[in-house]
Amino acid sequence: MNEKIYLTPTPVRIWHWLNAFGIITLVLTGAEIRFPEYAQVLGNYKAAVRLHDTAGIVVTLSFGLWFIYYAFVARNLLRLYIPSREDIQRGMIRQAVFYGYQYFRGGPNPHHQTPENKFNALQKTAYAAIMFVCIPLVIVTGVLMMNVSSLREMVMAVGGLRLLIGAHWLVACVFCAFLFTHIYLATLGHTPFAHFKPMWTGWEEAEDPSDRNT
Ligand code: HEM
Repeated sequence: MNEKIYLTPTPVRIWHWLNAFGIITLVLTGAEIRFPEYAQVLGNYKAAVRLHDTAGIVVTLSFGLWFIYYAFVARNLLRLYIPSREDIQRGMIRQAVFYGYQYFRGGPNPHHQTPENKFNALQKTAYAAIMFVCIPLVIVTGVLMMNVSSLREMVMAVGGLRLLIGAHWLVACVFCAFLFTHIYLATLGHTPFAHFKPMWTGWEEAEDPSDRNT
């Protein structure tokens, strides 16, 4: 039987699924707000705006949970999420070759997960960009747009409403692109659901090299 490792603590799992549902709701209601004539998810513009604002608050609060847990409780935020020099020089290419070629030949995954080093070089890069740049940017632009009149001076200081709307829209597009790649890559474990299990139970079965050569 494969050895099991505890990879994803409870606060991270709670954050992840709140965040996933929040972001998907934001994307769907955001599409309705932006293109009301084409995307009719709720079929009611005002309801779409209200749900969009609520999902934004959920994503903001859950981001706080993620940050507080990793930065102050586990104290391993930077170690887990920031790529090392080795990751940048060799790890990213090695991992891209695995995803793009070796995986389809049944070759071994060059990254071996441990609780101290659970992400491969590409995951670190993508997750760091999403968690340190995109989520904070969508939160700040969203909060400013929700309070345009009371935060008027701040809105002007960061370049005005048009710039805010543009930045908010751009990050939304990044989230859409990320979601598809993220879910697809998450299925490339030694079984299609191997990486989904730890996001639900916390535990992942360590890969047995004799299983499928991964
Ligand atoms: C339905 C939507 C989603 C599904 C099914 C999903 C699935 C998964 C799975 C299986 C993992 C563990 C494997 C891995 O690390 O690659 C994971 C981790 C992760 N996901 Fe997602 N995800 C979704 C949405 C999102 C969204 C919207 C974001 C951010 C905007 C996100 C950010 C992350 C991060 C940062 C991790 C690493 C968590 C940690 O252990 O610290 N995910 N996701």
